[in-house]
Amino acid sequence: MTTTTHYHYSDETLFISLLCLSFLSFILIHRRRARRHGLPPGSQGIPFVGETLQLISAYKTENPEPFIDERVGRYGPVFTTHVFGEPTVFSTDPDVNRLILHGEGKLVDVSYPGSISNLLGKHSLLLMKGSLHKRMHSLTMSFSNPSILKDHLLFDIDRLVRRNLRSWSDRVLLMEEAKKITFELAMKQLMSLDPSEWTERVRKEYVLVIEGFFTVPLPLFSTTYRRAIQARTKVAEALSLVVRERRKEVEVSSAGREEEKDKKKKKKKNDMLAALLAGDEGFSDEQIVDFLVALLVAGYETTSTSMTLAVKFLTDTPLALAQLREEHDQIRAKKKEGEALEWSDYKSMPFTQCVVNETLRVANIIGGVFRRAITDIPVKGYVIPKGWKVFASFRAVHMDQDHFKDARTFNPWRWQVNYIIRAASPGNVYTPFGGGGRLCPGYELARVELSVFLHHLVTRFSWEPAEEDKLVFFPTTRTQKQYPINVRRRDQDQAA
Ligand code: HEM
Ligand SMILES: *[C@@H]1O[C@H](CO)[C@@H](O)[C@H](O)[C@H]1NC(C)=O
Repeated sequence: MTTTTHYHYSDETLFISLLCLSFLSFILIHRRRARRHGLPPGSQGIPFVGETLQLISAYKTENPEPFIDERVGRYGPVFTTHVFGEPTVFSTDPDVNRLILHGEGKLVDVSYPGSISNLLGKHSLLLMKGSLHKRMHSLTMSFSNPSILKDHLLFDIDRLVRRNLRSWSDRVLLMEEAKKITFELAMKQLMSLDPSEWTERVRKEYVLVIEGFFTVPLPLFSTTYRRAIQARTKVAEALSLVVRERRKEVEVSSAGREEEKDKKKKKKKNDMLAALLAGDEGFSDEQIVDFLVALLVAGYETTSTSMTLAVKFLTDTPLALAQLREEHDQIRAKKKEGEALEWSDYKSMPFTQCVVNETLRVANIIGGVFRRAITDIPVKGYVIPKGWKVFASFRAVHMDQDHFKDARTFNPWRWQVNYIIRAASPGNVYTPFGGGGRLCPGYELARVELSVFLHHLVTRFSWEPAEEDKLVFFPTTRTQKQYPINVRRRDQDQAA
């Protein structure tokens, strides 16, 4: 975390020498390789910058698709490009994507830029490899699996969503509110912490950390990035307090002083932190904090964005909103005022599940994943050379008219069995949560959060956009202005 101090005096020299270096290596290495290995065709753009600027400017508009469409048209579904400082093989092909996702550790490894690794922390799940990664991935899975969701998390989600919606009136910044909900839930799931002024202070720092992730591709030149690194230190300090406190509790209870333990804490906690403290790995506080910070990152921004975008798509598609509301009013009609949702309620939301799937398909919150080839990988008559970056684009497949009819419109009805275009292998064409060894451990949790949020939103409120707000796709999919809406309580509508 000390890497931020030395940039300012030599920003320019550093930049220029990087430029020269990469210009040279560009010419020497890539020209030669292109012949020998049968690289997929493509264009490397201008030295150092490659096609990064074209990519960014396309993804900052409402219609980023032409960046991919043009290249697929010219070169086919797998092509080479040069983005974010490196030559990269770009795949828009579901079978190649599958090979990449399932080739974890055999064909490819994870690969994040150093700036991202510093923010995540080196002991995060996202950066782990090999057998440690396998163990920790399945531990993380076990904290979001259906039985935990059913027995614990659903209750917390329901309570936290209702608690947050209670204060809504008039103008609401939807993305901001959604972020509060997902953060509070993550703190509860990971560390059994209920919302308080303290958690809200941590969240404010946390927001600064997240902003650091959006400074790609030139973080070193950005004050936002430096601020993010500082904020990360503060978040880590706050979480270490919790970890130390909990370690003491564990030691007291394992020393068998039952009475003292009972007095101190009524119930043994059954959360992610407990599992990390109890594991055979003997993790240090620093390792545990890194692990928790990365889980917060992975679960917080993605899910709140999907909530916001679902509401935007529904607002723009009134028929879908009406059908969704009908489904949830029926569930509400069978329950008492203020009664919590149960698992059986969650399981009787078929249209909601279509809306969730379609939101994740169109929004592509994680548009694809970067990997590095650790061996030569033959694909479609070409070779991805060892050492090269690969980008498996989910977005390109989700937006492909060959796999989804009218792929570029939001149409939740397509998920009702009769409307689906069945692909040869549907599992490969729809991958909002990735797949293989790094399949998102939060995939079911995110679906439940989104469904419960929509339930309480549509049964309580009607709304319209307070301002025009547009989608942008860089650095991630989001709306430009946090999607401000004007809300009205539905019971007031009826009284009026
Ligand atoms: C709509 C919401 C979400 C989306 C679209 C999403 C998407 C993804 C995707 C595509 C990956 C794979 C990344 C890769 O292969 O490199 C991933 C990984 C991950 N996700 Fe999610 N996710 C969501 C919500 C969550 C939640 C709620 C959690 C909380 C538990 C979570 C935790 C993680 C973690 C820890 C990883 C890393 C797994 C690994 O590297 O082994 N995600 N997510
Ligand atoms: C939604 O997508 C998942 C795959 O992520 C699939 O298993 C499920 O059947 C889909 N739901 C609907 C209603 O089509």
